Formats: sequence, C-alpha cells, structure tokens
Amino acid sequence: MTKILYTNQLSFPTESVDALVIGAFDHQELTPFASQVDHILNGAIKRGMEASTFKGKISDTLMFLSPHLLVKRILLIGLGSPDRPCRHGIEKAGALISKHLQSTPAKYIHVCIDWIGSKDIQNFEVSPLLAHGLSLYSFHFDHHKTKRDNLPTDFEQVTFYTPSVEESKSCDKELDAICQGNITTRFLVDEAPNIIYPESFANMAKDQLKPLGVTVEIFDQKDLKKMGFNTMLAVAQGSAHEPRLVVLQWHGGKDKKEAPVAFVGKGVTFDSGGINIKPSTGMEDMKGDMAGAGTIFGLFKTLALRQSPVNAVGILGLVENMPSGTAQRPSDVVKSLSGLSVEVLNTDAEGRLVLADALWYTQDRFKPKAMIDLATLTGAIVVALGHEYAGLFSNHDELSKNLLCCGDEVGERLWRMPLHKNYEKDIESDIADVKNVGSGRGAGSITAAEFLKKFVGDVPWAHLDIAGTESDNKGRDLFRKGATGFGVRLLNRFLKKHYEG
Ligand code: BES
Ligand code: ZN
Ligand code: ZN
Repeated sequence: MTKILYTNQLSFPTESVDALVIGAFDHQELTPFASQVDHILNGAIKRGMEASTFKGKISDTLMFLSPHLLVKRILLIGLGSPDRPCRHGIEKAGALISKHLQSTPAKYIHVCIDWIGSKDIQNFEVSPLLAHGLSLYSFHFDHHKTKRDNLPTDFEQVTFYTPSVEESKSCDKELDAICQGNITTRFLVDEAPNIIYPESFANMAKDQLKPLGVTVEIFDQKDLKKMGFNTMLAVAQGSAHEPRLVVLQWHGGKDKKEAPVAFVGKGVTFDSGGINIKPSTGMEDMKGDMAGAGTIFGLFKTLALRQSPVNAVGILGLVENMPSGTAQRPSDVVKSLSGLSVEVLNTDAEGRLVLADALWYTQDRFKPKAMIDLATLTGAIVVALGHEYAGLFSNHDELSKNLLCCGDEVGERLWRMPLHKNYEKDIESDIADVKNVGSGRGAGSITAAEFLKKFVGDVPWAHLDIAGTESDNKGRDLFRKGATGFGVRLLNRFLKKHYEG
C-alpha cells in the first residue's frame, strides 16, 4: 500500500529525491513552482517542452532524467486549461503519474502542483484528486504471480503539496473510501472462478463488510428452496457449487426506518451458458459475470468507509451456470417467486432468471424508494454501445435523469435505451406466462429488460446493463487492463447527490 501524505511546504529539494512531479497548463504555461524549477535548472524544462510534443494538455507528459544532482527524475504533467478544470481531467493526470513512474525504480515521490484553483474546483481539492487518480491506476491484479520481476510495484510514499493540509486530508478521506470500494470490485471481478464461487463470495461479503458495520444476511440453497426462489435455483441446479443470496443493509440515515434505496446485482460467478453452452472462444471472460454483484459489494464498502448518511440495501444473487446431468434444460418451465411461470428456452439467458426472483424479493421485502439493478446481462448491449456506455433501462424519467447525470460527472457514462409494451410480445410464451428469450433476432438487450420489468412491481426502477463496461482489455484513463469497477463511483455519487442531506 502506498502511503499518501500532504504538505504545505513548496521548495526545491534540499535532499536527494527519487522523483519530482511538476505541472504545466495548456500552451506550455508552467505553474509558478514549475517555473521556479525551470529557473533553477537554467531553462531545461522550457527547452524540453520546445523540443517535444508536450503542450500541457491532460494526457501530455514529459520525463527528465537526472536533471539535477539531487533529483533522479522530473515528470512534467499536463493539466489542461487552468480556467476550465474538470475533476475527471485532474484524476486522469494523477493516473499518469502512476503509469509513468510505477515502472521506474522511484519509490518516494514528491508531487508539487501549485494550482490557484477556480470556482468549480477549490485549490485544496486538486491534490486529493490527483492522489485519487494515482491510487485507482496503481491497482494491478497480480497476487497469483510468483515471479515478481518486471511487475509494477507500489510506491512507498507519495507526498503532495497542498495549500491547506487539513482540508485536503478530509477530501482525501472520502475519495479514499471510493477508491477502496472500486478496487474491491475490480479484485472480485478479476479473481478466478475456482476461487470466487457463490459460497466463497458470500463469505467474503461477511468477512469484509460486517466489521465495517454493514448487516450481512446469507441465505443458502435450503433457505432459497423454502423461500421459493425457483428461477434462481433453476440456474444453480447444474453446478456443484450451491447458490447463495446475500442481503446487505447499511443503515446510515437519520431515520433508520426510512425506506432504503435498493441495489440488486447479477452474481453469476461463472457463466458457461449451461446446456446451451457458449462457444469456447472468449468463454473465460464469463468469470466476470458476477460484476453486478461485485459492484454492489464495492459500493457498500465505500458507503460504510465514509459513513454515508443514507439507508441502502444490496441484494446479491450468486450462482454458477454449468451444464451437467442435473442442469436445467431448454424448454423447462419454472414458477418464479413472484408467481409468474417462466419457460426457459435458452439456459444462457440465466441472468434474468436470477434477477427475476431477486428483484421481486427486494421490492416485496424492503419497499424501496428506488431499485437499481446491475448486470452483465446481454452481449447485445456490447453490440449497441461497445465499451464506452452502459445501457440504462428504466420505468422512471427522473431516476434516469439523475443516473445519467452522475454517470457523466464521474466518467462512467450511461445511455438510455427504450422500453415499450410492444416489445412484450417478443417474450410471450406458448405454454407459460413468459419466456426467457425474445422470438425475434433484434433488440436483445431490450427484451431482456422487458423481462426484468415483469418482476419490479411499481417501484421506480432502473436496470444497468454493464456487459460492455465491467472490464477493458486495453486499459483506460484511470485503470490498467482488466476490471474497471464500473458503477461504484457512479452510484456513490448518485446516493450522495440525491439521497443524503
Ligand atoms: N453473461 C451473458 C452476457 C454477456 C455477454 C456478458 C458478453 C458479458 C459479455 C448472458 O448471460 C448471456 O449469455 N446472454 C445471452 C442471452 C441470449 C441467450 C438471449 C447473450 O447475450 O447472448
Ligand atoms: Zn448467459
Ligand atoms: Zn450471464
């Protein structure tokens, strides 16, 4: 773990340092301290900018090796426009510090960005946002590697300049809670499916969240049979691993009886497709089919760490979808918890079977103010939106607007997709109330959402199809390749902005 410190001292090092990070705005305009450094180095920084393509845009960087007897390296980072700063841009700049220095021997870093601030972002927020980007980017999933040469290693200590240490520290505390939630989710999604299966996942929730004050209930297969979770059990019945339903409750609100906001997650710890088995190419990606549940796990860690003043419940539907002699068959008919009968025409459309019971249970037991489900539900959403936007489906315009807006603010973008009663015809079954796949070829994500809608009652509800955004095999601004933790930062912002206060 990297130690993050804040200081209000700003001067050129008088002892040897591994790395000094300084900044420049658009048009190669150095910050006041960077100008001072340039002066001490007889104009080397300005000459370096002239000799390179560095302009000062966010994502521009320039490294100077051994520029001074006491400084092993200087990393100049671009900060964009000083008048139109954006939080996400500053986080991105922080991520670049990690990207460019983690592969060097530098272990003690000094980040000296003296930014005057603007009306949107106060100057004491700049360093915590840089630290946030740096910490998010620093996570790398490598604990199974026994040969550790050539792996990025954590910094020992990063010291950030800030004009106001106390204010920066309290800002950092909140961002750190978000970072820890996000990293928890990424760890769960990246971890192998022989290690994360329903029982072990549920135990991790108990071990990690209970000590933080989250109430954790775990229902096992016997409980679920008694409770009538038949569509969820039907998915689980082909696997040697028993299913689990985890119910998380965070009572942070002033009035503990006030209706909560509910989050429901698809937690298929491995989706082989079942008897409708998937093609082998890419099947390994289906270890991430529990990302919805993983996101809610991470979100609750964040809420507890920052003592969020909100009432929230999180329901994780944990199963493994496997083919075997006990697996469900295409054409089975199952009675869901809500009472609706479902004809299972494709065992690979299993997420909606898990969610059907979990959603019905959630609205019935908790009567939430709003219910949001997260699921890697359809390949069709990846066809429609790729990896930039997650699909948003909702029966409620204001809830949608709030989610869309928070997504833009944190860089976890959503795109609203339609629901319409005409699509319902597509999931009419010949012999049961509903079937689990659409008849036509098109609109696979919409018919999946229409299916879910049958199990949400009249609660304001939103469904986020995160199949395209939960992982990234190239890496993104704030993350190395692998899981992204998409949704933790978005939903934390959503709760803070609309339900706290
Ligand atoms: N888990 C998959 C969806 C998925 C696909 C997630 C790609 C992440 C990346 C889901 O259970 C599934 O298999 N859906 C089917 C539905 C179909 C059978 C109607 C699909 O999308 O092909
Ligand atoms: Zn599937
Ligand atoms: Zn699935």
